[in-house]
Amino acid sequence: MAVVRIAILAGLGGLLFGYDTGVISGVGGRIETVFDIGDMGLEIVVSSVLGGAIIGALVTGWIAGRIGRRGAVLLAALLFGIGAIASAFAPTVEFLVVARVVVGFGIGLTSVAVPMYISEASPPARRGALVSLYQFAITIGILVATLVDEAFNDYADGWRWDLGLAFAAAAILAIGMFNAPESPRYLVQKGRIDNARGVLAMLLPAGEVDGTLEDIRRQISVESEGHWRDLFAPALKAMLIVGVVMAAVQQFTGINTVIYYDTTIFERAGIADSSDAIWAAVAVGAVNVLATLIAIRYVDRLGRKPLLIYGLIGMAVSLGALGVAFLFDGDIASTLSVISLMAYVICFAFSLGPIVWVLISEIYPQQVRGPAMSLATTVNWLSNLVVALTFLSLLDALGESMTFWLYAAICVLSIVFVVTKVPETKGKSLEEIAADTGSIGGASPSAGEAGAAEARA
Ligand code: BGC
Repeated sequence: MAVVRIAILAGLGGLLFGYDTGVISGVGGRIETVFDIGDMGLEIVVSSVLGGAIIGALVTGWIAGRIGRRGAVLLAALLFGIGAIASAFAPTVEFLVVARVVVGFGIGLTSVAVPMYISEASPPARRGALVSLYQFAITIGILVATLVDEAFNDYADGWRWDLGLAFAAAAILAIGMFNAPESPRYLVQKGRIDNARGVLAMLLPAGEVDGTLEDIRRQISVESEGHWRDLFAPALKAMLIVGVVMAAVQQFTGINTVIYYDTTIFERAGIADSSDAIWAAVAVGAVNVLATLIAIRYVDRLGRKPLLIYGLIGMAVSLGALGVAFLFDGDIASTLSVISLMAYVICFAFSLGPIVWVLISEIYPQQVRGPAMSLATTVNWLSNLVVALTFLSLLDALGESMTFWLYAAICVLSIVFVVTKVPETKGKSLEEIAADTGSIGGASPSAGEAGAAEARA
């Protein structure tokens, strides 16, 4: 199936995202020693990737509107490749920081362009699963990074291999995307109707091609040209809030405290041997990968909202239990902390992990999808940075239990938000979603729905 191939290929961008954000936690100590930079220097090296990602995400809407979705993914692959090689051969720490910013820029680009590309190319009935493949790749990337860190742990120069290995995935992504088609919706937007029809014919059953094309054309013709200022049109307000809040919720419910600091948490919970803590971290990574399969299977059957609600309830309960674990010592503390942390990761992996990317890629109308996704994703990276920078200080100021209960409270508030504000988008075409949420301003909802219905008839 062409569309599955395309989703897997573009999903490789997720592999690089996961690998490059995950790998640094294991190599930090060695970089600190080699360049003799101290804790602050190391913090700069580590956060340079997040800084690059924030800028990358912010400009992707503009880039993907100029060189296309496929072009943006290709550019990301190029940056990943250059950044990986430059990191591996970095002669000085300043050079390394610049190389990590370049890699971060690639991650930022990927995090907007890949879900956008997959979403615009997918048939409605499978869009949730196909965009979730991207999250699946992120989780594989994080797991592989943990294993590679372990493998090169004993070599002084092993960190160069750790950082350089991402080049291989970047090369595969670049070669694959070179032969992939452009997003049909982007082609329509640029007036390249025949090309769009050709791509839709590859992606959809023959009977749906003309109706879908007509539907996309009709919506684009009723929308204004998309600019950043259009984001603040009254008709878009509700969905803009949904995207931005859900992007922030994905981070402020604490996932990266676990992904970046799981060994620290396990050591604090009394798992004495640090190699046990590392293997517990590998187990967390593996559970994260496997539980994402639940979302791939159910996101288009049960819908986005039920998975989000079940996941958030599970996250709140397991964070509550994790907080309780820290009230005890010895075996009770370590057993309860491992079980609750695993449960938390499972619940994130089938809900907020994939579904935030799915939602952000489908709730905006075509003309503003670029800037709107850029804004939401930039908020996601900024929130990621804030959580990463504050977690250890929160632990010291509030203690472990209160810190995890704080994240649990954010989960509870998020449930209320999801129930009251997030639309269900399962099975609808992107054009129907825009019409249903009222975000295409003057467009008549029935026009979009009629077109999509015809297409399916
Ligand atoms: C988040 C990342 C996180 C990862 C964990 C992604 O969806 O955006 O911040 O590290 O999931 O699996």
